[in-house]
Amino acid sequence: MLDSRRKAYLEALGIVAYVRRSQATPAAPEPDAVVEALDKAVPAEPALGALEVHSARRAGPPAAERVPLVPSEARPEAALDWEPLRALVSTCTRCVLHETRTQTVFGVGDVRARWMFIGEAPGADEDRQGEPFVGRAGQLLNSMIKALGYARDEVYIANVLKCRPPGNRDPRPEEARECRGYLERQIELVSPTLIVAVGRIAAQSLLATDTSLARLRGRVHALGEQRRPLVVMYHPAYLLRTPSDKRKAWQDLLYAQAVFRRLEAGEAVLE
Ligand code: URA
Repeated sequence: MLDSRRKAYLEALGIVAYVRRSQATPAAPEPDAVVEALDKAVPAEPALGALEVHSARRAGPPAAERVPLVPSEARPEAALDWEPLRALVSTCTRCVLHETRTQTVFGVGDVRARWMFIGEAPGADEDRQGEPFVGRAGQLLNSMIKALGYARDEVYIANVLKCRPPGNRDPRPEEARECRGYLERQIELVSPTLIVAVGRIAAQSLLATDTSLARLRGRVHALGEQRRPLVVMYHPAYLLRTPSDKRKAWQDLLYAQAVFRRLEAGEAVLE
């Protein structure tokens, strides 16, 4: 029988486990050939079905109290707590994107989460609703998070850019640069165990590289001076366009979960 989280994820990817027709009432779904192929394609350990459901919240004081504040003369956000940070972002005019946005899209989730997912930039739905990953790609991201054992509100989700680029064009380097301080402060405040860069653009922007996603996957990267562990995964919007890469996305999730577990166990994951 399929683990319910895995089943939800597979269904979100359009991989449907069949139910025997001979049975009058729907029986528990059984793995079909695709699921078996997926199982073969991913490392045996850890199997997702065997993954423990971790609490995404940490015990102890809020991260903001544990993280030393580093005041920056150039960037006032470097010393701000959540509400002043959110207020500062909401009135930002540092780049041209403020001229076309409906509203800023700050971030959402548990401010003490151990997982932080960072995407590229708001799209039309996010610009309208003021929350990251609420469109079709967001639904798939939610399923992927669920497959890891968490609800959306147990992790923290943000974007490299807080404003929508018109026509969903790629973020420009100067826009990412102007927005960077906000994201850095969010990362400091959440202080997650593991950061997941969602998609090529986010990964390349965060890591300041033009290396392909194919080469960035399956490795632990060190983000910034604090060398925070970061892994990358395929963007759900890309997966909706390119279903043939769904298997690789599944591998990314398993890899992220394995890295997370090692980090939580106090093991070194960075080279
Ligand atoms: N894609 C992203 O990268 N971020 C969003 O918030 C929505 C879609």
